[in-house]
Amino acid sequence: MTRLQSPEFTSRRGFIKASAGLLAGTAAFRFPTPAIAQAAPIKVGFMLPYSGTFGKLGQFIDEGFRLYVDQKGGKLGGRPVQYVQVDDESKPENATDNMNRLVGREKADVIVGTVHSGVAMGMVKVARDTNSLLIIPNAGVNEATGPLCAPNIWRTSFSNWQVCQPMGKVMADAGLKNVVTITWRYAAGEQMINAFKEGFQANGGKVVEDLALPFPEVEFQALITRIATLKPDAVFAFFAGGGAVKFVRDYAAAGLSKSIPLYGAGFLTDGTIQAQGDAANGIRTTLHYADNLDLPANKAFLDAFLKKTGKDGDIYAVQGYDAAALLEGGLAGVKGDIAARNALVAEMRKVKLDSPRGPMTFNKANNPVQNVYLREVRNGRNELIKIAQANVDDPARGCRL
Ligand code: PHB
Repeated sequence: MTRLQSPEFTSRRGFIKASAGLLAGTAAFRFPTPAIAQAAPIKVGFMLPYSGTFGKLGQFIDEGFRLYVDQKGGKLGGRPVQYVQVDDESKPENATDNMNRLVGREKADVIVGTVHSGVAMGMVKVARDTNSLLIIPNAGVNEATGPLCAPNIWRTSFSNWQVCQPMGKVMADAGLKNVVTITWRYAAGEQMINAFKEGFQANGGKVVEDLALPFPEVEFQALITRIATLKPDAVFAFFAGGGAVKFVRDYAAAGLSKSIPLYGAGFLTDGTIQAQGDAANGIRTTLHYADNLDLPANKAFLDAFLKKTGKDGDIYAVQGYDAAALLEGGLAGVKGDIAARNALVAEMRKVKLDSPRGPMTFNKANNPVQNVYLREVRNGRNELIKIAQANVDDPARGCRL
């Protein structure tokens, strides 16, 4: 049983509480003085999917974050860390309530979440209204670091534009001319497909048809049959988590992987590769990570993650780990005073991470600037082929900061 399954549920709505180093801070909560208040725990509110098609992804983000904190002796900015978790179930309709509860009743000092772009939109709106500190450890929704950017909203993952636009040139350079796209019909799917098309069409490629099904459906058969009929040079896909496992297996089972190569955003094969088995062999994707990045920070991270969890790390674990690293970087400069928001944000802006993914800085909209890698599935791993585009900066369209 993992740590996530064991903590007590405190309400019907799926809140889970767990804490580290809490007892020492009890008196300080009642009679705070500046010095003692800083020894009080920092409350981290995880709002992540712990169930459903993205359940494993949320769990890995959580575990990556906790690994970093453990490596710092259970502290961030010199203060013990207390966690509260909510399973957002990747349901946008519950996002506002869940977020309000973490910010309001739970009084979390910082919210870390989430995976799903539609849920993240709801979180971003509440974060803006309440001026809460939010670190997005996955969801790529462009608006979060675009028109809805704000000093209190940060991302340690990617924008939907950032990871897919570089694939356009990669596929055009590979001589692929006619491509079919396929995804779930929701913000992340639409934005990733649009970004891919932007890059592909600018390099002379043609998208012959866009296929989509509602999130999180996995009845792919009719769409796979349509691909077989259209016979494009290649397919570009965005699916993730459980849905990606099924799509890749169904695609291979239909015999298409031999005749119509499958490309995609790296989420198609990250965190899913073991379950996909041989069906994933040869799939090429772009992402801000590859399993075998030959970097000391990556090797140390993968070793530590395996030691702590018994599992192979992936991009989701990296993004969670880096969310804690970003927070630590900011808190170090304000001596753990998470309430000193302006100073904290100024410190966070200066953070340069030696991430397992490679060097990482933040742009003016608080989105990572990072390498995007071309990978291919070989031997059950997402192996690096080359840097598809170095230091990719999201254009932060519409951000006025
Ligand atoms: C998203 O909804 O933004 C999303 C979800 C899962 C991923 C990547 C992006 O793996």
